[in-house]
Amino acid sequence: MKGAVTASAPGKVILLGEHAVVFGKTAISVAVGLRLHCRAEPSSFFSLNGHLLSPQTHGYIYQCVQQEWRGDPIAFQTRSEFPSGSGLGSSAAVTTSTLAVLAGMNGKGIDEERIARQAFTVESDVQGRASPIDTSTSSHGHGILIDSKPGPGLLWHIQKDTREWYIHHCPVPQLTLVVGFTGISAPTGPLVAKVKRYADKNTFAREVIEEIGMLSQEGVVCLRRNDQEGLGRLMTKDHRLLAILGVSCKELDKLVEAALPYSYGAKLTGAGGGGSMIALTDRPEIVAEEIRNKGGTPFIVRTDVAGVTLEK
Ligand code: PMV
Repeated sequence: MKGAVTASAPGKVILLGEHAVVFGKTAISVAVGLRLHCRAEPSSFFSLNGHLLSPQTHGYIYQCVQQEWRGDPIAFQTRSEFPSGSGLGSSAAVTTSTLAVLAGMNGKGIDEERIARQAFTVESDVQGRASPIDTSTSSHGHGILIDSKPGPGLLWHIQKDTREWYIHHCPVPQLTLVVGFTGISAPTGPLVAKVKRYADKNTFAREVIEEIGMLSQEGVVCLRRNDQEGLGRLMTKDHRLLAILGVSCKELDKLVEAALPYSYGAKLTGAGGGGSMIALTDRPEIVAEEIRNKGGTPFIVRTDVAGVTLEK
């Protein structure tokens, strides 16, 4: 077993396609330049940030240890550049960075596919129903395209019960996004269930989901061409469609409207109902100010960042 090992992993935002991805449509998720750092060193007992490691309060790290560690006790220290519960994927980042330090303590390097698979298992165990978007994005970095069938740039295929996902590399240029956290933590499960109920009984809702999937396909082309105007237009359209599906809320709408005059586009990101929105802009300071004025917490983030990494 090695001495101290440190790893970091990025947060993520979903650029296009949330909710529709649950119905097998395409979605694009990108890693952002806000990272969670995890340090591990041998100790006489398992701890996290000075507290005894507990399955109730430290579920993700506890599960990583349960599943992947057979050695002596470890003291973990974490430090995050972004808040948990904000829709930026902090549970995925804590999971992938912990798995990376455990690999490092075993004298191994990073195997991003292995970490993505292990992290998905950990998230599923802790959270119940989860999709591998967050964990795969945090592991691979840059951008991922998630689809119900394989295509160019396939990284890995993940299956659980009757559900399956094909995770592809999606090239992402360096973009500036402003994330606006509403301050409301909304659990994903009930929002996914709400969309399912709507889609089960309503053809119009199914058409909306279809259209969201098409926007994501167009988004891949915009990313390839670094067409920010085109991408922004798609994001704003996506927000309107997600609002029709009933997953926006007045706080998210307010932040989106505040950002739009200074942005190429803006939308909620993730499950909705609270959480965060994102704006694509080349005037990030003004957008951040507008978000703050409307009661949100802004974070200016960059894309095209590395996935989980062992640090020196
Ligand atoms: O809340 P987040 O960032 O984990 O995103 C959830 C994305 C959904 O499409 C709503 C659900 C899913 O599992 O894909």
